Amino acid sequence: MSRPTSGLDDKRGRDTPYLRFIRQALFDWAHIFSRIGGFFMRGNRQLEILSSDEIEKMRRAGRHAAELLSKLGDMVEPGITTEELDAEAVRWAEELGATHAPYQYTGGDGPEIPRSICTSVNEVVCHGIPDESDELQEGDIVAIDVTPVLDEFHGDTCATFSVGEPSDEIWELIEVTAHALRRGLKQIEAGKRIGDIGAAIQNYVETQDYSVVRDFIGHGIGRKFHAAPQVPHFGKYNTGMRMRPGMAFTVEPMVNVGDYHTRVLDDEWTAVTRDGQLSAQFEHTVIVTEDGVEVTTLVEGQDPFAESPAGVVTF
Ligand code: MF3
Ligand code: CO
Ligand code: CO
Repeated sequence: MSRPTSGLDDKRGRDTPYLRFIRQALFDWAHIFSRIGGFFMRGNRQLEILSSDEIEKMRRAGRHAAELLSKLGDMVEPGITTEELDAEAVRWAEELGATHAPYQYTGGDGPEIPRSICTSVNEVVCHGIPDESDELQEGDIVAIDVTPVLDEFHGDTCATFSVGEPSDEIWELIEVTAHALRRGLKQIEAGKRIGDIGAAIQNYVETQDYSVVRDFIGHGIGRKFHAAPQVPHFGKYNTGMRMRPGMAFTVEPMVNVGDYHTRVLDDEWTAVTRDGQLSAQFEHTVIVTEDGVEVTTLVEGQDPFAESPAGVVTF
């Protein structure tokens, strides 16, 4: 037990009963709010609200992630292997002093991923693992997903590229997917709900006669790679957690030409469409602000509402 300092005692002595009442009421309310806050956090154990210093670090990681993605996208052409893309990402990280979050990642209970980026070709929905036998062919599509870690913070971004000249079918799939991400981003604002993002994406994608993958979703991100909140790319408006300033998460819709079902191959990572039809993906890492969204995974001067990650398509 400790006694109040004499200074405080003096001040108290000068309080009128009315002021004492206000002081006590403010104290009580602060306490009640912190208890409610504590309860709220227990349900979302991993939910981080970033400080301005942490936001600055997220910006830096995001900028570098976007630059890497753009660099790898420029390398996509018939004949290159996904292993070569991975090797370039490894060189890039060594030079910068960054690491790659997917490398040796187990997701908790899976086998370790032996590569540093994910490369998902054609019917691969996500988590494709680069391989030297995986040579890209004219007419393929490849989603490249990078998550470098700089100064403890993650930048997670993905874009789908066509290998050689895209057919009309491929061009449309890529554009719809890039635009689905932009539709989702437009929903982000403090006070709105996480479900608004998925609802906007699903409504748009289904009216274009494509489907949205259910089995993989966006995620909270910061010091952790995958944290709360969960960010589905489907669902209903006005549901889910309320967005708060300083929350960081990804939006990363996977859009299928056929239906939304997926299955995972024997390597326990590679997810493919069950019907074997094409799937595309785009991803940004974002921070919720009072009146909108800050996208961290942008190259200098990029407008996320006009351009997709890596600037692949505009719509
Ligand atoms: N970058 C991916 C994501 O968007 C995940 C990479 S594969 C993983 O979450 F296995 F490492 F998670
Ligand atoms: Co990613
Ligand atoms: Co992600």
